[in-house]
Amino acid sequence: MPAPAPAAPSVGELDGGAQLSIHALSRSFGDRVVLRDVDLDLIPGELVAILGASGSGKSTLLRIAGGLDAATSGTVTLDGRPVTGVDPRIALGFQEPRLLPWRSVADNIALGLPPKLPRAERNTRISELLRLIGLTDFAAHRPREISGGMAQRTSLARALARRPEVLLLDEPFVALDALTRLRMQDLLLSVLDEAPTTTLLVTHDVDEALQLADRIVVLGADAGAAGARIQQLVVVPGSRPRDRGSAQLAELRAQLLGALGIDRHAH
Ligand SMILES: Nc1ncnc2c1ncn2[C@@H]1O[C@H](COP(=O)(O)OP(=O)(O)OP(=O)(O)O)[C@@H](O)[C@H]1O
Ligand SMILES: [Mg+2]
Repeated sequence: MPAPAPAAPSVGELDGGAQLSIHALSRSFGDRVVLRDVDLDLIPGELVAILGASGSGKSTLLRIAGGLDAATSGTVTLDGRPVTGVDPRIALGFQEPRLLPWRSVADNIALGLPPKLPRAERNTRISELLRLIGLTDFAAHRPREISGGMAQRTSLARALARRPEVLLLDEPFVALDALTRLRMQDLLLSVLDEAPTTTLLVTHDVDEALQLADRIVVLGADAGAAGARIQQLVVVPGSRPRDRGSAQLAELRAQLLGALGIDRHAH
């Protein structure tokens, strides 16, 4: 009897992502030191959130990890291989969805696919991604015909389209209203559940970090010193989805706000 044909590969059949290692990384602009000696290791499939005051160098760190900017010294490696520039193993997502207005949702997602895929596989993967982000019925819509949350979902699907080993997100939900932001957080978790990908997420939102991350780092400068380093690294307890009201998280929230220089009793 012939063996059954293998099912078409789905977005979910990823190998879980790469190990992302940032080692002794420093970045200066002229004589201004922005990052100083940052070390951070992400295990495959892990989600690490970066918190830090405005200007502490979060985006700079993410851009260097994504090969969009070069470190002054130090290294970034994926599974031991250095990142030296824009890298097909890495996908980036930003505050704004950055969609092409004249292309449909499906065609914007297709921009993220590897070139030269056979047409059938291309269509299968677009359908799969549309399903993943819940926009199957909006495939033919243009960006101006969908909401901000839908546009950000399309952007996420485009980032995932080439099945990256690492996803780097710079405040991806900050422009959305509070309710849509919570929905997007849940969506990101379910997407990563289906397609495990090592993820580094920059956010200003302590609760977002607590809800999504396996570990949280706080980036900031030591008093009187130039350049931000990792001030705190905490493991977030409990499996997701986490109870936003738990006492354990409340304690960690207070600790993180303290590390960010915000005294919750002052409000
Ligand atoms: N290309 C550049 N040239 C000169 N200075 C830069 C450049 N990029 C970033 N900087 C400086 O590096 C510092 C950190 O900027 P960065 O954008 O990484 O901060 P951030 O933590 O992402 O802030 P925010 O939370 O406001 O987004 C800032 O002082 C910024 O002015
Ligand atoms: Mg930034």
